[in-house]
This record gives sequence, structure tokens and C-alpha cells, in this order.
Amino acid sequence: MSLRVGVAGVGVMGAHHARNLATAISGAQLTAIADANAERAAAFAQEYKGTKVHADPRSLIDDRGIDAVVIATPEETHAELVLACLKAGKPVLCEKPLAANVDACLKVVAAEVALGRRLVQIGFMRRFDPGYQTMKKAIVDKRYGAPLLFHCAHRNAHAAAFLSRDEMLIRSAAVHEIDISRWLFNDEMARATVLAPPPSGKDGLRDPQMLVLQTVRGVVIDVEIFLNAQFGSEVNAELVCSSGTVSLAAPVDAVLRHEGHNGPVVPQQWMPRFETAYLVELQAWVRSVERGEPSREAASAWDGYAASATADFCVASLTGGSPVTITLEKRPEFYA
Ligand SMILES: NC(=O)c1ccc[n+]([C@@H]2O[C@H](COP(=O)([O-])OP(=O)(O)OC[C@H]3O[C@@H](n4cnc5c(N)ncnc54)[C@H](O)[C@@H]3O)[C@@H](O)[C@H]2O)c1
Repeated sequence: MSLRVGVAGVGVMGAHHARNLATAISGAQLTAIADANAERAAAFAQEYKGTKVHADPRSLIDDRGIDAVVIATPEETHAELVLACLKAGKPVLCEKPLAANVDACLKVVAAEVALGRRLVQIGFMRRFDPGYQTMKKAIVDKRYGAPLLFHCAHRNAHAAAFLSRDEMLIRSAAVHEIDISRWLFNDEMARATVLAPPPSGKDGLRDPQMLVLQTVRGVVIDVEIFLNAQFGSEVNAELVCSSGTVSLAAPVDAVLRHEGHNGPVVPQQWMPRFETAYLVELQAWVRSVERGEPSREAASAWDGYAASATADFCVASLTGGSPVTITLEKRPEFYA
């Protein structure tokens, strides 16, 4: 029987996952949704007939007709809902971040360790992107020697309205680069410096920002976060090793010749860049639930904690104007 999945929150990200479950993922079926916006939930259920609608994610999690849950509600609801999934013994794919603050992340980690079963996956989908996977393989195979530097740029055309505070560029956007760096180098960040030019955007937002991080083993990482870059959305990364480099190649839909310009079109939206990664992530999660063991690539609750805690140190550097040393809690053996 295919896995009966409930999706909590059918806004931008949740609707995307729910549509993928309904149309593209094998071994699973979209069974129910819940959203605080009743009109949005009803419109979605109208599009995907037979989908049960719950008024509240807690009743979706407790629904005996649901085997596993995707959480895509706003971050301040995540910890409570993930804890409810653990209590119900249901596997959960929770969108990043794991929780709105580090204490809440650690509460989830403690609850999962106490349960003794790995039920939580965090939606850090870049780990499933073919470009980053090629980088990871090059590092693991030592194909171009030792990794030394990692240059990243994360630009959106226009920031979503909720990204209105300086720290959110780090906690909501750069957290993807933090997670992918931890995963690529199988290492934690040891120190960080975050700088920003004087505010140039609307409402005094410090955008762009530049993060410089160094891992415990010494790889140096720079990350430009620019969420109102105007011209379009792109994610660039170049890995520099001792005898070669690996760069992400942006997927190209079409090449345009127009008014003196000849080249690829820069996407205006952020979501299409990781279309494949979102699909592979969801499929890997479904397969891992079938097998009863976590996907090797996927981010665990511990990874969710480590990414959020590292992001908090970066925020401290931005607000304090000086470099910071990063220290994390000791990783439980359970996540080894
Ligand atoms: N992995 C990624 O690339 C990525 C990209 C975008 C967003 N996200 C994450 O996905 C999550 C959702 O972001 P979004 O952009 O889809 O937001 P959104 O505002 O578009 O959607 C959130 C939905 O949750 C509903 N909701 C709010 N509070 C609720 C509650 N208490 N109970 C039930 N429903 C509730 C809202 O009505 C809305 O439909 C966030 O954690 C965000 O960080 C991840």
C-alpha cells in the first residue's frame, strides 16, 4: 500500500510538495492537507479531489488515515508540530528551519533521541541537487585534491515580504549555504565574520550581506546573500580544490537574442532552480519511510539544530560587527 501523506501548510512550499506528492512521487499519495487559511485549503482540495481537509495540523497529525507528514507552515509552528509527529510515531519531512530558535531545535533533538527512532528529516533540498552532488563526489573521491575554498552567491530578484529584518537573510536564506557546506565538507563551522555595505535597499534592510566562514579543518567559505538583486534569481557556487575547481552550472531553459543581447535568460523566480532537488528529496524521503531508515543524504534533526545554531552565530557577528567563534553542543551518538 502506498504511503498516505498529510501536508500541513499549503502556501508556496507546501503546495509545491503536495502537488508533487499528488502527481510525481511514487509509493506515496497525497491524502490530507491542513492550513489555517480555510479558503486556500478548500481551493487546493478542489484542485486535487479526494484530498481530506483538516482545519488544524494537529488533527492531521493525529489522523489514523495518515502515515507520514510534511510540515510547510511558518517556522514558529515547526517545533510544536514535529514534536506532535514524534509523539504520534509518524515520520515527518519538516521544511527548514527545524524550529524558530536553537532551544526549540534542541528540544526536538532530545525528543527524537528519547524515542530512539529517526523520524525527522529537514527540507534542506540542495543536498539532492545534481550539481552539489557532483561536488560532494569530487570531494569524497579526492578527485581534484584537497578542498580549500568555497565561493557562493545566493541572489533573488526580490525578497519575499516576510524577509524584512537583517537577520532573516542569514536565518532564512544563508542557512541553505551553511547546511550545504556542512554536508559537502562533513565538518562544522569554527568561525564566522559577517559584513554588509550600508543599506541600499528599501526600508534600510542590510542587503546584500557577505558571510566568511571557516570550517574546523580549515576550508574557507564566502557567501554573498543578496535578496533584492533586481535582475533575477540565481545560486552560484565554485569549489576550489588543490588541483581543480568544480562550479555549479545553472540550468538553461532557453537562449535569447534580443536588442544586442545574446545569452541565457536569468530566471525571475527562485523555485525552478531546485525543481529537481525538491522532487528527489521528496522521493528519497518516501523511500526512506518505506525502508524504515533515514536517507543517507538527508538532513536530520541534528543537522537542523547545527545549521540554525551556526546561523545564530553569524547573526551575532553581523549585529556585533566582529568575528565570532562558533561552538555547538556535542552531537549525540544517535546521529553518528
Ligand atoms: N526549502 C526551501 O527552499 C524553502 C523555500 C521556501 C520556504 N521554505 C520554508 O517553508 C516554510 C513555509 O514557507 P512558505 O514560503 O511556503 O510560506 P507561505 O506563507 O507561503 O505558506 C505557509 C502556509 O501555512 C499556513 N499556516 C500559517 N500558520 C498556520 C498554522 N498555525 N496552522 C496551519 N497552517 C498555517 C498559511 O496559511 C500558509 O498557507 C517555511 O518554514 C520556509 O522557511 C523552504
